[in-house]
Amino acid sequence: MKRFDDIDGWRRHRLALAETDIGFVPTMGALHEGHRSLVETAVARSSRTVVSLFVNPTQFDQPADLEAYPVDIANDLAKLEAWGVDDVLLPRFEALYPDGYRYRVSESSLSTRFCGAHRPGHFDGVLSVVMKLLNLVQPRRAYFGEKDWQQLALVRGMVSAFFMNVDIIACPTVREADGLALSSRNRRLDESQRTLAPEFHRVLENAPSAAAAREMLAKAGFEPDYVEDYEGRRLGAVHLGEVRLIDNVALEGAHD
Ligand code: PAF
Repeated sequence: MKRFDDIDGWRRHRLALAETDIGFVPTMGALHEGHRSLVETAVARSSRTVVSLFVNPTQFDQPADLEAYPVDIANDLAKLEAWGVDDVLLPRFEALYPDGYRYRVSESSLSTRFCGAHRPGHFDGVLSVVMKLLNLVQPRRAYFGEKDWQQLALVRGMVSAFFMNVDIIACPTVREADGLALSSRNRRLDESQRTLAPEFHRVLENAPSAAAAREMLAKAGFEPDYVEDYEGRRLGAVHLGEVRLIDNVALEGAHD
C-alpha cells in the first residue's frame, strides 16, 4: 500500500495510472466495519482502490465536535492495508485548501433541510471536499454509505449538476447486532447512552409517523434535532448527551 501525504506526489502517481479503473472511498478516518464494507466493495469491483483519510474541518459547524473527532491514523492504515487498499491519501488542510476555502461548492435547497438546518455550512464543507478529492483521484466509481442519506443525495446531485465523470455507488448501512448504525461517533457514547442508542433505529422503523417517532424519541431520553419522511425514507438526527447520531430507514415495509 502506498501512502501520499503530499498532493504533488499523488498527482504524479495519478498521471502514471492513466486509464486505470479506480474505485475511491473518501473517509474521515476512525475506520469501522461500515468503512470496511465500502472498501471491500470497491476492492472487489476495481483494479485499484484509493482511500482518503482527512478530517475535513470545513464540514464541522461546532469546533468542539471537530476537537472530539477520533483520530487513529496508525490503526486506520493497518486496517486499510489488511482490506486490500492500494493507495491512501492523507493531505494536510493547507494542501487541500490552497485557497483557504474562498472557493466552495454549495447547494441551495436540499442542503438547507434536515441536517443542514441544524448544521449551518456543513454540506458546503462536504460538497467542497468531495469535489476536490474526486478531481484529484479521478476515480471511475466512488463509494458512499447510505447512513448519510442526505450527503449521498447531495453528492449525486453535484456530480450530475457539474457533469462529473464518476459513478456514485451507495452501500447499505452496516449495523451492530442491536440495530445501532455504525459511526465513528459511537465510541464517544458512555455505557448508559450505548444501551439506549439502538432505540433510535427501532423507533424510526416502527413509529406510525415521523411526528410520533420524534415524540417517542424525546420520551425515551433522546434530544431529537429532527425526524422527517422524505422520498420513501424516514430520516432522523438525535443528540445523546454530547453525541449526535443520524440514521434513516426505508418507509413502507422496505427494510435496509
Ligand atoms: O462521510 C464522511 O465521512 C465525510 O463526510 C466525507 C464524505 C469523507 C467528506 O469529508
